[in-house]
Amino acid sequence: MRIVVGITGGIAAYKAPELVRLLKKQGHEVRCAATEHALEFVTRTTLETVSQNPLYCDLFASGRTEHISLKDWGEMLVVAPATANIIGKVASGIADDALSTLLLAFSGKPVVMAPAMNCEMWAHPAVQRNIETLKGWGIRMVGPEEGELACGVSGVGRMAEPDQIAAAICSSQQPAVSGQRWLVTAGPTYERIDSVRFIGNYSSGKMGFALAQALADVGAEVELVTGPTALDVSSYQHIKIHRVESAREMYAAATELFPQCQGAILSAAVADYRPAETADHKLKKNGTEGMTLELVQNPDILATLGGMKTDGQTLVGFALETDNEEANAQHKLEKKNLDYIVLNSLRDKGAGFGVDTNKVTILGRDGSRTESPLMSKQDIAKLIVQEVTS
Ligand code: CTP
Repeated sequence: MRIVVGITGGIAAYKAPELVRLLKKQGHEVRCAATEHALEFVTRTTLETVSQNPLYCDLFASGRTEHISLKDWGEMLVVAPATANIIGKVASGIADDALSTLLLAFSGKPVVMAPAMNCEMWAHPAVQRNIETLKGWGIRMVGPEEGELACGVSGVGRMAEPDQIAAAICSSQQPAVSGQRWLVTAGPTYERIDSVRFIGNYSSGKMGFALAQALADVGAEVELVTGPTALDVSSYQHIKIHRVESAREMYAAATELFPQCQGAILSAAVADYRPAETADHKLKKNGTEGMTLELVQNPDILATLGGMKTDGQTLVGFALETDNEEANAQHKLEKKNLDYIVLNSLRDKGAGFGVDTNKVTILGRDGSRTESPLMSKQDIAKLIVQEVTS
């Protein structure tokens, strides 16, 4: 893996070269990014020598877009030690130096932090609030440990040892889904009125396809059941695509595949109703001013899979709500026997149908809550997969 190790200005920075050395030994490629204060505790020469790469520490000297190229290069960002200052900056969205700028740019990819500070600082409500905020965004914390601190007192605040941090990186690197089969539904459904007309919706399938690819990228075998989409599927790899048209066809495919799957993410925009009758020819105007179509309810695929779900299977649904969003999503999670529900934002510009970006809140049955910023659908998909498979 390509790992960026971020180092901030705490005494535990002297252990960062050891962490870099361990990661290199495990076969990872490492690049270091340090704050100005980190270099009071550990030298540039040491970090460049152990990582065998140039250090990134000056937002301007290294070229103005180094934080973006380093973000594109890195598959994981580990901040060790993470001071109260960097934790507070990220929680508040402050980007005023090389590392904090990189941290804000590093969305949709795993970030691990190893906090280290004095025990009174660690216990401060502001720090605890910031830690909860970062955890809520999916940032993983390793430590701090209890023990003797550099300031001479004993308490919680000591950075986890480099081998513990390396082990945590290793475990988040091997996703639980590797080798598992997952089902994903995507796109709209078309409900036929006659031989040339249908009832449909604006879903593009982009979110579902991105989810299928994110699962395949972490080693899952993916069965993608998709309604009609105009997406070019040639760029999607290691995904078995089942094309369907109507909600009932999607229901048949999903219920057949689900028992062989360890998990399912249902992101399709399924039509809740279909015409009671379908004409096999093109309907003609019948001379009257208006026309009434009788609709009947489609089966609820998500609720059906919730009823079929056995221990060890994970079921994830989506919710699109306009009022009492979180309460309604929570109710849907319980009613349909889900493990997670992904609440789509309709309030934010750039989120939802047709666009390339999205913003979601992931609610877990265990009470967990992760809120994403506005990100590309690919990055949102990686975040959802990371959340529901860890
Ligand atoms: N869904 C499904 N089968 C249906 C309808 C919806 O599998 N017939 C799934 C969607 O793929 C999504 C979730 O149910 O994962 C939520 O869909 P949504 O339209 O928000 O909710 P509904 O359950 O249809 O409830 P309502 O329309 O009353 O809000």
